[in-house]
Amino acid sequence: MAKKPFPLSNVYGLLEPGPVVMITTAHDGRQNIMTQSWHTMIEFEPPLVGCVISNRNHSFGLLLASRECVINIPTVEIAEKVVGCGNTSGASMDKFEKFSLTPKPASLIGAPLIDECYANLECRVADTSMVDKYGLFVLEVVQAWIDPAVKDPRTIHHLGSGSFMVAGERIQLESKMK
Ligand SMILES: Cc1cc2nc3c(=O)[nH]c(=O)nc-3n(C[C@H](O)[C@H](O)[C@H](O)COP(=O)(O)O)c2cc1C
Repeated sequence: MAKKPFPLSNVYGLLEPGPVVMITTAHDGRQNIMTQSWHTMIEFEPPLVGCVISNRNHSFGLLLASRECVINIPTVEIAEKVVGCGNTSGASMDKFEKFSLTPKPASLIGAPLIDECYANLECRVADTSMVDKYGLFVLEVVQAWIDPAVKDPRTIHHLGSGSFMVAGERIQLESKMK
C-alpha cells in the first residue's frame, strides 16, 4: 500500500467510533438535544460510556446540573435532523419543536427519550473527574430501550467536516470479544 502523510487535524475523522448519537438533557423545566460523536464504551456491566461534551454547549450545564441524560441512537432516515441539532444551540430554541422530534418520558430519569431514534440509553453521570480537563463525562447506562423491528440499523458515522458513512451491513465472524 502506498501511503501519504495525513493531516493531524483530521485524525479524529479516522478514529471516530460512531455511531453519531443525540444526547438529551433536562433541568428546571427545560429540555435539550445535542449531537455527539466522541464517545467510547468503558465497561461491559454496568455499561459505562465516556462522552466528551464541550463546556461551550448548552447541554454541558444541563448535564452537570441534572447529572442525567439519554444517549439516543438515530439512523440515516433522520440524518438531517441529527446534523441540525449539532448546528444549533438549545439556549435559544426548543430543538424538539424546531426539528419535529418527539420527546417521550424515560423510565428512570428526567431527560426525555427521542421517539424517532431506534435505541435509547437512559444514563446517570457516574464520574466527573475528567470533566474540567477534557469535558469527559463517564455515564452509567441504567436502562436501555431498543426497537425490535429495526434489524440492521443504518446508523451514521462521522468522518469529519460534514461527511458521514452509513452502516447497515452485518457480517458474522468468530470473536473472543463478548
Ligand atoms: C456530527 C457531529 C458530532 C458532534 N460531536 C460532538 C461531541 O462529541 N462533543 C461535543 O461537545 N459536541 C459535538 N458536536 C457539536 C454539538 O452538537 C453542537 O455544539 C451543538 O450545537 C450543541 O448544542 P447545545 O448548545 O444545544 O447543547 C457534534 C456536532 C455534529 C454535527
